Amino acid sequence: MGREVKRVSFDAPTIATRVRELGREITTSYPDGELLVLGLLKGSFIFLSDLVREIERPLQVDFLVASSYGDAMESSGLVRLLYDPETELEGKHILLVEDIVDSGRTLNRLMELLQARNPRSLEICALLHKHIATELQHPVKFVGFDAPHEFLVGYGLDHAENFRHVPYIASLQ
Ligand code: IMP
Ligand code: MG
Repeated sequence: MGREVKRVSFDAPTIATRVRELGREITTSYPDGELLVLGLLKGSFIFLSDLVREIERPLQVDFLVASSYGDAMESSGLVRLLYDPETELEGKHILLVEDIVDSGRTLNRLMELLQARNPRSLEICALLHKHIATELQHPVKFVGFDAPHEFLVGYGLDHAENFRHVPYIASLQ
């Protein structure tokens, strides 16, 4: 049945505690104005659904589907939007929610595309940050956990589409 998890990096109670803290941080750090929480699919789907329930202010939710394309998927940094949010972005506070920041290429390109829509503000919230993103042009304002430099799965993160449902975050064997 393929791979098995090797070691749990963050268990479910640890994640829940941190997500609650992040929700509080986000609640207090946004001034007036419309907040749109924009999840990057698929990896952010569980994190986002827990996170928005910990944010105590009015907000809207939408999702983006982005895909790297071309042969040089790892190094090209080319990102295409497969699903473009129907929600109007102009004049809103946009909080882009990502599962994990690795090279930072996906975020670099997405931030460019989103900035072009003239949001009132544009920030990133990442569940995990590997801190190896030398190319990342935009600071990640909200970070759940500093991630070990291993391949992680669970709580939305996958390996070949498996493990997304696992309620904790673990490294792979
Ligand atoms: P980046 O553009 O290199 O920062 O890639 C970020 C994307 O790669 C994330 O949104 C994940 O989909 C995927 N990714 C990077 N590292 C991991 C990992 O450790 N586990 C699962 N997916 C990962
Ligand atoms: Mg992803």
